[in-house]
Amino acid sequence: MAEASTHDFDKDYWERHWAQRHGPSERAPHPYLARETAGLEPGTALDAGCGTGSEALWLAARGWQVTGADIAAHALDRAAERSADLPEPGGVRWIEADLTTWEPERRFDLVTTAYAHPAMPQLDFYRRLAAWVAPGGTLLIVGHLHAAAAHGHHPPAAAAVALADITASVAPLRIATAEEHTRTVTGPGGRDHLLRDAVVRATRTR
Ligand SMILES: C[S@@+](CC[C@H](N)C(=O)[O-])C[C@H]1O[C@@H](n2cnc3c(N)ncnc32)[C@H](O)[C@@H]1O
Repeated sequence: MAEASTHDFDKDYWERHWAQRHGPSERAPHPYLARETAGLEPGTALDAGCGTGSEALWLAARGWQVTGADIAAHALDRAAERSADLPEPGGVRWIEADLTTWEPERRFDLVTTAYAHPAMPQLDFYRRLAAWVAPGGTLLIVGHLHAAAAHGHHPPAAAAVALADITASVAPLRIATAEEHTRTVTGPGGRDHLLRDAVVRATRTR
């Protein structure tokens, strides 16, 4: 198994990242969220590394009780501003936490993460998230594929993973979706990027 190595995406890095990122943060949620949660009954959800909250807010607007967790206070401030627009702003709580060491008080019906790459090996991070899924619950991972560097967008090498390694890392969850996708997104400067995504949905049967 090709395990990603430790790198220095620590709190300082992410605070700088979000402090320097000007412009609107109202991007649409990634397209896999609606598709992969379509058959799920809303319950409790954790968005791990939620950034400015696009996915967390989308879930909260559909009846999920969402915890949006991120290491960067700058990102959470912007997420909290955005949640003021929710019909029921109480449907989402934002917590500043380092998810490489944080332990939740309870398990969640849905644990999801998109492109979060902390200062720990990426697959170890996914193993932690898998452990936080309640019995009967779902894990939804969207990550950068290893091959992405050859296709325009250049994710940090340590953040890129192979699909088979993700599915192996979340055992014993049962794999429902394991797909590779390519899509174009427009970045903050108006530039288009090609993204190569790994999408894994898995369920905990016990
Ligand atoms: C590339 S951004 C993705 C944000 C959001 N999920 C999205 O798709 O726009 C990665 C996010 O992971 C967060 N993050 C990195 N390391 C973390 C950690 N140890 N604990 C919690 N969040 C972390 C960063 O602050 C950042 O918001």
